[in-house]
Amino acid sequence: MKHIGIVTSGGDAPGTNAALRAASRAAFARSVKVSGLLHGWEGAVKNDFLEITRDVVHGIVERGGTILHSRRTKLLTAKGDVEKVIAGLRRHKIEGLVAIGGDGSHRGALVLAEAGFPVVGVPKTIDNDLLGTDFTIGFQTAVQTACDCIDRLRAHTESHDRVMIVELMGRHAGWIAAFAGLASGADLILVPERMWGIDEVCDHLKQRHDVEKRNFSLIVVAEGAIESQKMLRRAKDTRHDHLGRPHLGGLGDVLARALEERTGYECRSTQPGYLLRGGSPVAVDRLLATRLGLRAADCLLDGMSGISVGEVGSKPVENAIADVAKGNKPLPDLEYERAARFF
Ligand code: F6P
Repeated sequence: MKHIGIVTSGGDAPGTNAALRAASRAAFARSVKVSGLLHGWEGAVKNDFLEITRDVVHGIVERGGTILHSRRTKLLTAKGDVEKVIAGLRRHKIEGLVAIGGDGSHRGALVLAEAGFPVVGVPKTIDNDLLGTDFTIGFQTAVQTACDCIDRLRAHTESHDRVMIVELMGRHAGWIAAFAGLASGADLILVPERMWGIDEVCDHLKQRHDVEKRNFSLIVVAEGAIESQKMLRRAKDTRHDHLGRPHLGGLGDVLARALEERTGYECRSTQPGYLLRGGSPVAVDRLLATRLGLRAADCLLDGMSGISVGEVGSKPVENAIADVAKGNKPLPDLEYERAARFF
């Protein structure tokens, strides 16, 4: 290969630029030209490319977001899309692709690989819900940001003798909530993998406040938790995005109202939301992104395709994209139980 493409798609995550830089540098070292697809997969069909040079990736290791811009798109889900994307890539003389993204991006990459276009995936999402790898790029930064938010909320919550619900992103997985909640000493963590009924949450609060005489509580709730609770579902914002995915944010507010009504304790909620996706990546994310980016380009240039690079137990692994794209990685029981020992 003399020319490869790099695409960043799906929700942005800190460390994406570091992965892009590393994959580019690995290609340059082998005298391979690199083009970035702008705005996700759409760049291929709209002939929207950015030539990536050493200068373009200079100084971006610490930058959040993605210099290639990102999109959530339906492209590569409908019949005929893959031909359009491949034609666009070939027109631009791109012979292989590094696809940096989450589950949706891996599903897109799979379609491309199955159509015979060489592609290697790099797992990137703050949610850490991708199969086949221990940690995805962006997760550790999101946990750190969430932890900082909760630390700040603690002083306020304690001073006002309140119950504070902190709602954190993560879609249908509780990774960010469990890790940030444990690291910041949350008094209760609610995740989709372990459903608590509203009555159980109230009982837990009453035990803390009335019996143990604690004057405040910090509850971390993953945005996808307690979704099945009828009452909460009714009250919840049921907007959907352009891909038909439910817009999950808003559970914290609903929960705060429901708890206040039932317990009489003063409840508030805070949603750090997209702050978790922003900011400079922590060093651990930069390093992970660098290792995965280098390896993805090396694998592609060594002739591999249809794989996604990852790490399990600090060891490099190559997963079939088909295996990564087939589902989501839930928070393991062990992780939740460790966190639950503190509440
Ligand atoms: O997948 C990452 C994520 O940040 C989720 O945690 C969240 O539910 C979702 O993206 C929000 O996505 P959007 O960018 O479409 O609002």
